[in-house]
Amino acid sequence: MATVEKMNIEKTDQKIWLFVIAPILIIVAFVIGIKESLLVLVLALPFMLLLKNQFLESKVAWKDEYSVGIDIIDQDHKKLLGLIMEMFKALNKAKKDERAAEILDELIDYTVTHFDREEALMKKNGYPDIEKHISEHNSMRAKIKEFRANIATNTNQVSSEALQYLQDWLVNHITVTDQEYSKYFTEKGIKNI
Ligand SMILES: [Fe+2]
Repeated sequence: MATVEKMNIEKTDQKIWLFVIAPILIIVAFVIGIKESLLVLVLALPFMLLLKNQFLESKVAWKDEYSVGIDIIDQDHKKLLGLIMEMFKALNKAKKDERAAEILDELIDYTVTHFDREEALMKKNGYPDIEKHISEHNSMRAKIKEFRANIATNTNQVSSEALQYLQDWLVNHITVTDQEYSKYFTEKGIKNI
């Protein structure tokens, strides 16, 4: 079973700024002078930001160990994890709540398809813990609809809260709860649908 790595992409981003990018810029300014370092800043900062975003993306990227052994479900999970990164990118945009609302709409639509697929598969194959699993799906459905409604009424911090909730819920669900039915299906010899 995959290990769950608790993550907070927003806090990791802040730490990289504070403990990596800012110290590098201060050292460069100290060594070559503030005026000269402006040129370095213009040239190097986009590259540093690219590296930082690649690192953050790797933190929320789908990993082979997340596989439930069913291709179409793995594809769904990749898509859902991709939406977390989109939510993080949205936080840095001027109209962040507008973009976050679009992403939540996409999540609401996509989870309908994905959860229906999983639930049908569990039903068809007599998965014994189906009720517990469906109740986790339902709590997530309700929560993202709540975030969506709060964004619409301009509640502060909704986008950040939604991002953290998605990271915690999705990673835990994919790496723990979904692995439980995966184990059951493997034992029953169910591979693909
Ligand atoms: Fe699930």
